[in-house]
This record gives sequence, structure tokens and C-alpha cells, in this order.
Amino acid sequence: MFPEKRMRRVRGKESTRHLFEENQVASSDLIQPLFVEHRDEPVNIESMPEVQRLDVESAVEKAVEVEELGIPAVILFGVPSYKDGQGSSAWDPSEAVQEAIRRISEETGLTVIADTCLCEYTDHGHCGPVNENGSVANDRTLNILGRVAVSQAEAGADIVAPSGMMDGMVQAIREALDSDGYKHVAVVSYSAKYCSGFYGPFREAAESELLGHRGTYQMQPGQRREAAVENRLDVEEGADALMVKPAMPYLDIVRDTRNRHDLPVLAYQVSGEYSMLYSAVENGLLPEEAKKESLVAIKRAGADAVITYFAEEIAKQTGSG
Ligand code: PBG
Repeated sequence: MFPEKRMRRVRGKESTRHLFEENQVASSDLIQPLFVEHRDEPVNIESMPEVQRLDVESAVEKAVEVEELGIPAVILFGVPSYKDGQGSSAWDPSEAVQEAIRRISEETGLTVIADTCLCEYTDHGHCGPVNENGSVANDRTLNILGRVAVSQAEAGADIVAPSGMMDGMVQAIREALDSDGYKHVAVVSYSAKYCSGFYGPFREAAESELLGHRGTYQMQPGQRREAAVENRLDVEEGADALMVKPAMPYLDIVRDTRNRHDLPVLAYQVSGEYSMLYSAVENGLLPEEAKKESLVAIKRAGADAVITYFAEEIAKQTGSG
């Protein structure tokens, strides 16, 4: 007890603070998202400053840079050249995502993760085909997701990451991969994905206009126990790792997931978290360090890896550790 016990002793010198650091962010914790599209040159995304939609060649160049910075993985999102009710362009081997997966997996040693969802590829913007009554057809979507995952695995993806919150998606994808000879491809499930306003800027990034809302498949922000059920089901269905999304507003869910499971836990610092922090720093309302602090907080909550649009910037500051 005070005055004998003094916590400040371990904070007096920078080296001691460093020595006793419980959580830190290294470039090896980060996953860089990339948006790819068949186009001539990169284009800026207005709602996400410094993030671009890339042509395949530029995506490969960016992947090489990312690897040099010690970031071990990229996650690819596609902006397709055509859209329809089923999202058929999602499993088209000539689309930009498949091509970028092929090139990046051949030309780098990165772990290539493919986002396995249909919302960027459907003309209505939902994560699966829509029934006459307007709801997304769960079981029909599962068949399509299996095809998409196989096309991504065929292109060379190491990990497929279903993000559509369809019931049974992990099992359907696992079965499709196994029966097509892709037993070695891992499934990282966005097991607790919330129906969140923080995805706003992504819509522009992925050119994904939504008619309606995703509340019939994504989770409501107030749900905590329900995330535990989602996590458990995905583990039972064969998920190799679990993900929580968004990250910062859902740190308790990251912690719950960490405490309940021994699988790797990922968290996705989404577009709205990025744009919010970016513009606060840009406008002088927050110091630059707030960006890294947000990632340390996500690590402290229990994430092993973080998908973040700040990956490159933070890796430049931290190095791999
Ligand atoms: C769609 C998808 C979304 C994001 C990634 N995949 C949007 C949504 O579900 O509405 C958002 C990512 C981000 O905001 O950075 N399955």
C-alpha cells in the first residue's frame, strides 16, 4: 500500500516501460485490405482518403511493398466488371480478384486471403440472391458461396473468408473446398459480423449500393451472447479462425471470443473506423498516435491479427516484432 507501493517506479524510464509492455502492434499482426478491379490505373476512394481501387498490376505492386514491410497477409475485395441477381461474377475466373489472387500468390510469399461474399457482385447489393419476399435466400446462397470459394482456391487463395453471415456458410464452404481438392485451404469466418454504420465508406470503395438493409442476416449491435453462439457454430462447422467485425466498437466481443476459443481470433478495423480516425488526425483533432493506439487496443482485447487500412502506415513505423 502507498507510500511503499508505487506503480510509477516501472514507468520512470522509457526502457522500463518498453520492457514491461504487455501488448504491442507489430507489422506481423496486420493484414492489408486491397480493392481490385479491371481498370487502367488506380482511382481514389473519396470516402477513404489514401485508399484506392487498384488495377491488377498495381495490386501486385502494392502486395510486393506490403511484403517488404513485414506484413504477412493481404485480403482482397473485388469490384467486378458486371453484376447480376446471383453475383455470378464472384466465381468468374477472368475477374480482377481471381487474377490478382493468382498473381500475388505466384509473385509473393504473402498469405492471400479472399473475401468470400456476394454483395459486391450482386446488382441489389445483398450478400446473396433475394427471394420474392425480399429476403436473402440462405440455402441458395450457400451453393454459390461454395463455388466462389472454390474459384478463389483455384486461383491460389490460402484462406477464404466468408463474410455474408449466412447460416451454414462455413460448413458449405468447407465441404465444397474438400470435395474439389482444396483441403489445404483455410476458412476464416467472419463469425460475429454486426449490422454496422461503420461500413459506410466501404460501399463507395467496393461500389456496392444496397437496396434495403442487412439486418436479416448481420447481427444487431446490442447482441453479445448471440455472438458466442455464432462463434461456437462456426467452430463446429469447421472454421480455422474466427473474426469479429467491426473492431473498435466491439472490443468486448473480441475479448469474449478470445476467452472462449483457442483458435486464432481476427478483428476487422473497418472503413468507418479508418475514415473517422483519418479525418480526426487530418483535421488536427487527434494526434497521429491515436491510429496506433486503436490497434494496440484491438490487440489488447485479444486479437491475434487485425485487418486494417492503416496496415502499411503502421508497419512503416513499427517494423516486425
Ligand atoms: C460485405 C462486406 C462489407 C465489408 C466487408 N465485406 C460491408 C457490409 O457488410 O455492409 C465492410 C468492410 C469495411 O467497412 O471496411 N460482406
